[in-house]
Amino acid sequence: MTDNIITTFKETFSKEPLVVYSPGRINLIGEHTDYNEGFVMPAAIDKKMIVAIAANQSRQGRIYSMDFQEEFVFDLDSFGPYKGHWATYIMGVAAQLQQAGYAVQGFDMVFGGDIPVGAGLSSSAALEAAVGFAMSTLFGFHISKRSLIHYAQKAEHVFAGVQCGIMDQFASAMGKKGHVIRLDCRSLDFHHFPLQLPDHSILLIDTCVKHSLADSAYNKRREECQTGVAAAQKLYPEIKSLRDMDLKVLDAIRSDITQLVYNRCKYIIEENNRVLAASELLDKDDLKGFGEKMYQSHEGLSKLYEVSCPELDFLVDYSKDLDEVLGSRMMGGGFGGCTINIVEKSKVKTLQDSIKPAFESKYDVTPKFYEVSLEEGTGLL
Ligand code: GLA
Repeated sequence: MTDNIITTFKETFSKEPLVVYSPGRINLIGEHTDYNEGFVMPAAIDKKMIVAIAANQSRQGRIYSMDFQEEFVFDLDSFGPYKGHWATYIMGVAAQLQQAGYAVQGFDMVFGGDIPVGAGLSSSAALEAAVGFAMSTLFGFHISKRSLIHYAQKAEHVFAGVQCGIMDQFASAMGKKGHVIRLDCRSLDFHHFPLQLPDHSILLIDTCVKHSLADSAYNKRREECQTGVAAAQKLYPEIKSLRDMDLKVLDAIRSDITQLVYNRCKYIIEENNRVLAASELLDKDDLKGFGEKMYQSHEGLSKLYEVSCPELDFLVDYSKDLDEVLGSRMMGGGFGGCTINIVEKSKVKTLQDSIKPAFESKYDVTPKFYEVSLEEGTGLL
């Protein structure tokens, strides 16, 4: 894949590119908590975006997408969001850098990758992180990874219209081989925690349901959380986000909010507590206990936060009765994409052989399986 991208770049632009990669991510637990200033536990994986880039001495960005086999050209002095088009993520990052005062120059770019799009593995965050790092390196901006993460997130807000949290861009940029990231999304303090799973695999099962409704529903969830916070602030002005609330505070405002807002807040408060408890279980090597937290997380995401879908619920329910699966839950924004599962290594194949026909006969779709390893974040190839 990388060779192909480099060859295409050389053939198209007749020069040597700078080559940058940035990985997709998984998240063990802590879903929709990032934009509520809570806790998450993501990791970068062995699926990545590759960006080949060189300066072109013009005022144009000329981009070729390997996956879409399509070219896109834009003028660096006059461009705006192009929602729904792949180029919007690249332009979004260029715009953020320009806004921060960096003189982005004309460039030629070829990019591609093996992160399945729409599967909840953050291909867009990986692309944003790769583009930010590539431009910073190529033009000698020396931007810190922390700042690049913020620019990438802002690009998603402004150019893709998704009010995402910081988790995806953070995980893609800061991943470490063999480690998960324990991230506090308020302070951005984090630890790389070595995840040793000698007898288990992290298996993603892709429902192949593309989350088309997801963007608007995602922004809506964010607003609903904000409504809960605003209600609580009337009684407790010091509360800044759901991170600061517990179930007692939530009960105190119960009659001021709708059942729906109550449910959304309850899920987030419980999920934050779960991440902390799950983290302690990992410290004690209690994978079974950790897996139970994953199941509880899914229950909340499905019933209270309502970001699951029948196909995801089916996969999680299916695995509940199987001893070889320690934990399973939907992962990422929701409404489709993958479940993440901790599965006994020796049983991965048998599990796939039994889930595949069951899922096919129910939904007439063949699910995809990805056994992933934890890898380094954004860097130069
Ligand atoms: C998407 C967003 C993240 C995060 C997850 C849900 O992936 O980009 O910021 O909110 O959904 O945990």
